[in-house]
Amino acid sequence: MGAHFDNDPLTLPTITTHPIAAAMGAEVVGVDLRTLSDAQFADIETALYHHGLLVFRRQPLTHAAQEAFTERFGEHGTDAYTSGVEGHPNIQPVIREPGPELPLFFGANWHTDSPFLDRPPAISMLRSVETPPYGGDTWYAATRIAYERLSPAYQRLLEGLRGLYTRSHLVRARQVWEADPSVRFDLVATEADLAAATPHPLVRTHPRTGARSLFVDVNYTLGIEGMTRAEAAPILRHLVEHVTQPVFCCRIRWEPDMLAVWDNRLVIHQAFDDYGDHRREMYRSTVLGEIPA
Ligand code: SIN
Repeated sequence: MGAHFDNDPLTLPTITTHPIAAAMGAEVVGVDLRTLSDAQFADIETALYHHGLLVFRRQPLTHAAQEAFTERFGEHGTDAYTSGVEGHPNIQPVIREPGPELPLFFGANWHTDSPFLDRPPAISMLRSVETPPYGGDTWYAATRIAYERLSPAYQRLLEGLRGLYTRSHLVRARQVWEADPSVRFDLVATEADLAAATPHPLVRTHPRTGARSLFVDVNYTLGIEGMTRAEAAPILRHLVEHVTQPVFCCRIRWEPDMLAVWDNRLVIHQAFDDYGDHRREMYRSTVLGEIPA
């Protein structure tokens, strides 16, 4: 018998949703994102908070149209990595040109977007323009479901704990690699990185639905406030392994003109450098989030 969660299909007044996997994610049919009515947008928001991730196919959006759709959710988020494309500072290029495997591949490893910010993005979206003939999927894992499936005792253990979120180790590794790609580097955070890291609750509450979810990832959650590294490490390792077990995940296969929209309060994600000498061209935008609580 398969796993049972609450990722049921929705039939809302203006859209219907088709789940991608048992735990999370759905495809939405019946909308053109360039000409959304307020009623359609309201249904999309409802569906996003229900499924965590929505996928829209056959949406030939321009940068301006992606910006306009992003703004329906709120103010644009801060992007810590790029300054956008010409004329559209809020549209971040995520482009991988053909070539050798990259040691620091954008989007690799399970992560939530920029949790080291005081107000990490609430919602992120990714639009595909050119997609490889194989590989290049994006994986998602459901952090709400994962929290709900922890034992009550483990949930109590996490109560009040704050994670420490930093990207200093990644910035340092990138500088080393850019200076000389042949030099080996370690992705290790120092005590100084952790002392300067941003604290947020390890269990956060969704401001719109009240749902509780784990706020933990591989790339950036490197400590727990008030704990030694030796104490924090097994908790963080367990949480990441728990969240990312395949039954809590879904995976999307890209084709051109798709838009994926996900709620960073409900899911984490990762990309893979598994498409050899092919090109992948995507554009990301984000919605400013609240201070996690
Ligand atoms: C990201 O991490 O936002 C990018 C995901 C992807 O390129 O599939």
